[in-house]
Amino acid sequence: MEGRVSIFKLVIPGSRAQFGRKSFEFAYGLPYNHQVFEAFTEPIDARTRYCAVYGHPVRHSASPAMQNAGISALGFNWRYLAFEVHPDSLSAAITGAKAMNFIGLNLTVPHKVLAVGLVDALDDSARRWGTVNTIRFEGHSSSGQWQPLREFEQIPPEVRAHGFNTDADAITRALSEDLGFEVTGRKALVLGAGGAGRTAALKIAAEGVADLFLVNRSRAKAEAVAEEIVETYPNVRVTLDYPSCAIDLVLNTTSVGLGAEDPSPLDRDRLPLERIGAVYDMIYRPAETVLLKQAKAAGCRVANGLGMLLYQGAKALELWTGRPAPLQVMRQALERNVYG
Ligand code: ATR
Repeated sequence: MEGRVSIFKLVIPGSRAQFGRKSFEFAYGLPYNHQVFEAFTEPIDARTRYCAVYGHPVRHSASPAMQNAGISALGFNWRYLAFEVHPDSLSAAITGAKAMNFIGLNLTVPHKVLAVGLVDALDDSARRWGTVNTIRFEGHSSSGQWQPLREFEQIPPEVRAHGFNTDADAITRALSEDLGFEVTGRKALVLGAGGAGRTAALKIAAEGVADLFLVNRSRAKAEAVAEEIVETYPNVRVTLDYPSCAIDLVLNTTSVGLGAEDPSPLDRDRLPLERIGAVYDMIYRPAETVLLKQAKAAGCRVANGLGMLLYQGAKALELWTGRPAPLQVMRQALERNVYG
C-alpha cells in the first residue's frame, strides 16, 4: 500500500482544519497512518472508543482496514488500531486495554493459545477450540449482568476480558459461502496440522464430515489431531494419509504457497487433481497460489482464504457492536488493502 493512496485527509478535532500527510508529519513529527483515519468523516475526540489487534509481527495485518471500514459504516465513534505486542507483554497489554476502556481486541499470531489463560472468562467457542482470537471487554452492570462495554457511558467499576473464538465458524462459513460447499457427509483432506489445521479439522469433524484424511509434513502433529478427533467425534472416519478414492474437498492450512517460489503443498502423484471436487486454500496473499491455479485449471471449484479473514472479523465486530456486520463494505476494504 505504501505510496499508492494519494488522497489523505485528516480533520483535527476542534479546528476543522484539514491536513495532508506531509503537513501532518511536519506538524506532529509522527508518521501518518492513513489506514486508520481515511474511512472516517467524524474526528477522533475525547469520547472515541478503541478496539485493536495485537500480533507479533502485526504490521501486515489487514484487520485495521477491514474493521475501520465496518465501524465507520455502522456510524460508531470508535477506531481500530494495531499494536506490535511481544508474547511476554501480552498479559500487560490486555490489562492495559481493559484499564483504558477499550471495546475489544483481536489476537493474531502468536497470541491465540496464550490468551486462553489470560482472559477473565471464556466463551464456549474459545473453550471448544482452545484458542482466543477475540476479546470483548464487559462491565458488571447494576443489575448484576456482564454487558459489553459499548453499553456503558461511564467506565463501570468492574470490567472483565471475555475471550471468544471466531475463527472456527469462519472456516465453515467460507466453505459454504465462497465455495458452495457443505461439509456434512462429505470426504475431505486437510493439509497441515498446525494451529489452523487443527481448528479446521476439528471444525469440519464437528460439522459432520464423513471421512477425514490428514496429511502433515511432521506426522506426529497429524497423529495428535487425529487422536483428538477420534475421541471427540467417533463417527468421523479418520485416515492419516492421502485418500486413494475421489475426494470432495482439499483444504490447505499449511504455509506452503505464501512464498513467491513455493510449490503446491499437494502431492499430485498421491492425489491427482482430477479426483478432487473443490479446493480451499487458507492463503489469501497471493490471491492465487500454485495449488489454486492448478486446481482451477483441472476444473475444481476453488476459493482463497480472504473469506475466512472476513468472516472471523465480521463476527468479532458483531460481538463488539451487537449489530450485523456490514459485510460488503468490509470485504471491499479488505480486498483494497490486500490486493491494492
Ligand atoms: P498455523 O498456526 O497458522 O497453522 P503453524 O502452527 O506454524 O501455523 O502451522 C503451519 C503448518 O504448515 C504446519 O502444518 C507445518 O507443518 P509442520 O507441522 O510439519 O511444521 C506446515 N508447513 C510449513 N512449512 C511447510 C513445508 N515446507 N512443507 C510442508 N508443510 C509445511
